[in-house]
This record gives sequence, C-alpha cells and structure tokens, in this order.
Amino acid sequence: MRIAMIGSGYVGLVSGACLADFGHEVVCIDKDPAKIAALNEGRMPIYEPGLDALVAENVRQKRLAFSTDLKPAVAGAQAVFIAVGTPSRRGDGFADLSYVYAAARAIAEALTGYAVVVTKSTVPVGTGDEVERILREARPDLDIGVASNPEFLREGAAIGDFKRPDRIVIGAEDARAAAVMQEVYRPLYLNQAPILFTGRRTAELTKYAANAFLATKITFINEIADLCEQVGANVQEVARGIGLDNRIGGKFLHAGPGYGGSCFPKDTLALVKTAQDYGTPVRIVETVVAVNDQRKRAMARKVIAACGGSVRGKRVALLGLTFKPNTDDMRDAPSLSIIAGLQDAGARIVAYDPEGMEQARPLLQGVDYAEDAYACAEGADALVIVTEWNAFRALDLARLKAMMATPVLVDLRNVYAPDEARRHGLRHVGVGALASRD
Ligand SMILES: NC(=O)c1ccc[n+]([C@@H]2O[C@H](COP(=O)([O-])OP(=O)(O)OC[C@H]3O[C@@H](n4cnc5c(N)ncnc54)[C@H](O)[C@@H]3O)[C@@H](O)[C@H]2O)c1
Repeated sequence: MRIAMIGSGYVGLVSGACLADFGHEVVCIDKDPAKIAALNEGRMPIYEPGLDALVAENVRQKRLAFSTDLKPAVAGAQAVFIAVGTPSRRGDGFADLSYVYAAARAIAEALTGYAVVVTKSTVPVGTGDEVERILREARPDLDIGVASNPEFLREGAAIGDFKRPDRIVIGAEDARAAAVMQEVYRPLYLNQAPILFTGRRTAELTKYAANAFLATKITFINEIADLCEQVGANVQEVARGIGLDNRIGGKFLHAGPGYGGSCFPKDTLALVKTAQDYGTPVRIVETVVAVNDQRKRAMARKVIAACGGSVRGKRVALLGLTFKPNTDDMRDAPSLSIIAGLQDAGARIVAYDPEGMEQARPLLQGVDYAEDAYACAEGADALVIVTEWNAFRALDLARLKAMMATPVLVDLRNVYAPDEARRHGLRHVGVGALASRD
C-alpha cells in the first residue's frame, strides 16, 4: 500500500517506520525542514531506542522516505495519516486542533482519488466529523473515507508497542474505509493482534478513556503513598498486594512524583473540557488533574523537608529530567516543577540526564549540567532521583556518600531500598514509606 504520514514526530516517525517495515511504501511528511533534513541525512530528530536502525533499513529498502512536500506524497496514497501534535490550547486547556485541521486542508488539496484520511493524533470526540466536513467541502468531487486510529504506543518502547500492540482500535463509519484500514494492519492481523472496529466517535473517546484511566491509577497510588507515609505503611507492598489481583493489575501502580509527559497531562485536561461541554462532567478525572498538578510542586517541598526545612544556598543534585526513562521528551516533565520549586526556595540546581539535557536547556534557567551521575552528586547537599533511568539503578552508594556534602538521597522513584542506602551511610527519603532516620 502507499501511505502518507503527516507529522514526523514521536508518533508519526515511529508509525511510519513500522508501517514501512510491514512492507508498505511510506512517505513521512513534516513542515519542519530541519527535522526532514536530519532524517534525510540519517540522523534521528528524537531519541527512541531502535528507531535509527529501523529507519535506516527501511530507507535502504526504499520503502520509507521523508519530505516537506505533502502534495506528491498524498497524491495516489490509499491511506493518509494525520499524526500532528494536539497540545493543550493556551488559556482554556482544550485540545488545540489547529494543526489537525491545517493538515486536513492541505490533504484535501493534494488528494487525487479515493483515500482514507486517518487521524492518529489524539483528538476529542467529533474531530473526525470536522475533518470529514473540511475534506468534503474542499473536494466535493472526491469520495473520501475518514477513520480514527488512535495510537497507544509508549515513548521509550514505541517500536515494540507498535509492532506488538495490545490492541488496534479503528473507528470507521463505512465498510470501504474499514477495509482499507484492515489492509494497513494486515501484517499484525496475521500475528493475531486484536483489532477492534468501532464507530469513529467511539475510537476517539477510547483513547482519552485509556489515558485518563491510567492517569487515575497513577494518581490513586500516589495518594495512597502519601497516606502510607503518615500511617507507617509501605506503598510498594500495598501496590503489590493489590496489583496481584487480576481485576486491578500491577502496572501503573508505582508511586512517584506525579505523571507528566506529552500525553497524560494534556489528554486528561482535554477530556475534562469535552465532558464539561457535553454537560456530563467527569469528576474523577477533574480530581486527578488537580491532585497531580499539586503533587509535582509538593515534591520540591519534600526535598526541602529532607534537607532540614531549607535549601537556601544549598546545592541540590537532580538525576533524571525527562518525564520517564528512555526518551528525550521533556514535555510537562515533573522535573520542571520540582526545579522551579527548589529554585524559588533558594537552591542551586545541578542536573544530569542521559538523553534529555539538550531538550531541557531551553526550558530551564540557572541550572548547571553535569557529565554523569557522580559529577552531579559531587558536593551536593541532596541527591534527588527524579527519573528512573537504568543508569541510576546501580549507583555506587558508598562513593556517593563520600562525595556529597550531606548524604541525603531523595528517591522519588523508590529505586533503592531504604536499608541499602542506610548501610552505605545515606539518609533515604522515598515515596510512600517512612524515611530512614540516620
Ligand atoms: N508521544 C506519544 O507518546 C504519543 C502516544 C500516543 C498518541 N500521541 C498523540 O499523537 C499526536 C502526535 O504526538 P507526537 O508526540 O508525535 O508530537 P510531535 O510534536 O513529536 O510531532 C508532531 C509533528 O507534526 C508536525 N506538524 C504539525 N503540523 C504539520 C503539518 N500541517 N504538516 C506537516 N507536519 C506537521 C510537527 O512539525 C511535528 O514534527 C498527538 O496528538 C499526541 O497526543 C502521542
């Protein structure tokens, strides 16, 4: 099949490369010339494990190409995916759909025959209807299918998620569009990946419901963690105790600094707005949004408390800046609020992240960057693990203790057992357990 992918960011690039790997002929389009130039020179504009090799192989096989020129890629394509950003709109928090609609207008001009236009971007219920209206108004001469195919991949594990998905959701309003989508995913169908065919609005809402549920699960365990700290219980054991129940499941029950990233914050907010517009507020999700917002800054207060109540003039070292490991994505990362909270309280911040420092630089002021975890900890009054990169899982704790000015480890991801840290002379402050006393 010939496929055009409009938007070559985390989702468009990974989806395009994987669809090419299935055997389709894919052109990934982006309006950012620097991104396309990098891709054409074999450089990845984002960090995603395995992506460079997958892209290189499919470019070599001539199944994958990159361009800023949408027209020739869309002309003659059987499926045109829209994978542009849908960030929160400034002011009201509703999803900003201007990129989606701009892409739809550009696609309309470029179509030459029947094609299915597929929204892969996360879009509020009814966006597919508007995309269809734009296309039909611009091209009354053409028969066009409009489908919704939300993406569930996780950054950091994106290729595996795309190739071995838990499920594929396809929202289509007619059999012809559904048949084209079935053909797109036929290689996965043969692998028995469950494909759910639904109405378009159902598919759109399924994506928001999934993200809101996962955000709720994280927020739930975070609040239980706070309660654990007050009552002398251990949240990791509580999580295991409930997670072993199949009805609950153990995933997304890791207490931490609050969810961040390019999806959960904006998608929970957009769902809240949609539900309010339809007069059926989703109160649980409204609460999740509010609780999570407060939590990030509360983590700065936790660090301040661990430092004896003040960080003024103190050197606080942060390990991990990205919102999760194995990505360079800094969008809505908890580290941003934590650093702001600590700087407001007078701390000097030094930070290290294996992949995220380049993206972090323009977002942060007055932060020193270290070359590795140990250089970061040198002379620090507290070491804070914000993101659980593998590189931070087996640090030499005795060495850290020897090099820090004050041996305080604030472990916001519960990477280390408190006893182990204490054995090496570090005071351990985790999430959802009593802090070690010495
Ligand atoms: N990142 C994730 O993990 C993830 C997972 C599932 C779904 N999603 C959803 O997928 C969508 C894309 O997310 P992302 O993280 O890939 O965003 P991104 O910002 O990394 O990429 C979007 C790309 O689209 C390009 N673009 C915008 N308008 C364009 C146009 N008219 N023509 C050509 N290119 C255009 C931008 O230049 C950018 O490179 C969002 O709706 C997001 O919610 C993201």
